[in-house]
Amino acid sequence: MKRILITGAAGFLGSHLCDRFIAEGHHVIGMDNLITGDLKNLEHLMQLERFDFYHHDVTKFVHVPGKLDYILHFASPASPIDYLKIPIQTLKVGALGTHNLLGLAKEKNARFMIASTSEIYGDPLVHPQTEEYYGNVNTIGPRGVYDEAKRFQESITMAYHRFHGLDTRIVRIFNTYGPRMRLNDGRVIPAFMGQALRGEDLTVFGDGSQTRSFCYVDDEIEGIYRLLMSDYTLPMNIGNPNEITIKDFAEEIVKLTGTDQKIIYKPLPKDDPLQRQPDITKAKEILGWEPKVGREEGMRKTFEYFKTLSKHELQKTEHRDFSDRNKK
Ligand SMILES: NC(=O)c1ccc[n+]([C@@H]2O[C@H](COP(=O)([O-])OP(=O)(O)OC[C@H]3O[C@@H](n4cnc5c(N)ncnc54)[C@H](O)[C@@H]3O)[C@@H](O)[C@H]2O)c1
Repeated sequence: MKRILITGAAGFLGSHLCDRFIAEGHHVIGMDNLITGDLKNLEHLMQLERFDFYHHDVTKFVHVPGKLDYILHFASPASPIDYLKIPIQTLKVGALGTHNLLGLAKEKNARFMIASTSEIYGDPLVHPQTEEYYGNVNTIGPRGVYDEAKRFQESITMAYHRFHGLDTRIVRIFNTYGPRMRLNDGRVIPAFMGQALRGEDLTVFGDGSQTRSFCYVDDEIEGIYRLLMSDYTLPMNIGNPNEITIKDFAEEIVKLTGTDQKIIYKPLPKDDPLQRQPDITKAKEILGWEPKVGREEGMRKTFEYFKTLSKHELQKTEHRDFSDRNKK
């Protein structure tokens, strides 16, 4: 049995990772300061002897007694709404948080993985994005706080790998969706589903010709798991290359939800990337991994999850109040 620390455990991906490692028979320590996460995502694990929860901010010194075999650093605000509201926290969790956890990994001689992102490619000039592409990021734009934090995270992880010989993994996650996403986190899938459930028109930003590719959470977790277990130490894209325009996607959602909402158009936000599609050749060749869940099946499961939310949750437009924290 391995002992695994997962930061960001109360979030969307972190909680699914906890489930996966528990299912594999390991002992999981979930750590989270609940800034964007929700303990509801971990409720089902709390009674287990093989699960511990630490309410802790990883930008502060991190201490975990006992051995650790793996550390997965997934804590970070992850949606544009979040990181625009808490820009300094976002930079700190990517920079100070990663530094703290790398120190812990070194102390425990643990394998260390960071959750990087397709955002490190910025508004890409190369399509699809291979791991060798350096990206096109506006350092001082509104998304820069997230993109640069993630780029720094990759740099410091490689520095620990090269300088201290730490065993590290870097996963570049592309848009992932599924149950436990937050309805009001500003990402396109919960936004459309929330609007459909409230009987509102679906809002498309720009003319809808921008493309996205969405990976179902079970596929994403499988890819992350295989990368962690592999001996590959350079960054790897894990995502679904099946691309769709936002306009076509909005039409699919209208069909899926059986509603007859209109699609309305609003101006495109600054630095919103026009195209995103992972090249997953490396994941296929090295991990034997590729996504298996089709968009229709994944969207149906996700919509089923959102339908279980209460009327009150559906009406909330703001997830939480960051006002006391966003200046630190
Ligand atoms: N979901 C995606 O499509 C996607 C895409 C690319 C990368 N990622 C990365 O995956 C990771 C998880 O994303 P997610 O979608 O699950 O987001 P999420 O917001 O659901 O989860 C992030 C979790 O981190 C916690 N957290 C934030 N700052 C913290 C701190 N200082 N100390 C302790 N906990 C803290 C939050 O409370 C939350 O529970 C993030 O690092 C994100 O950048 C996600």
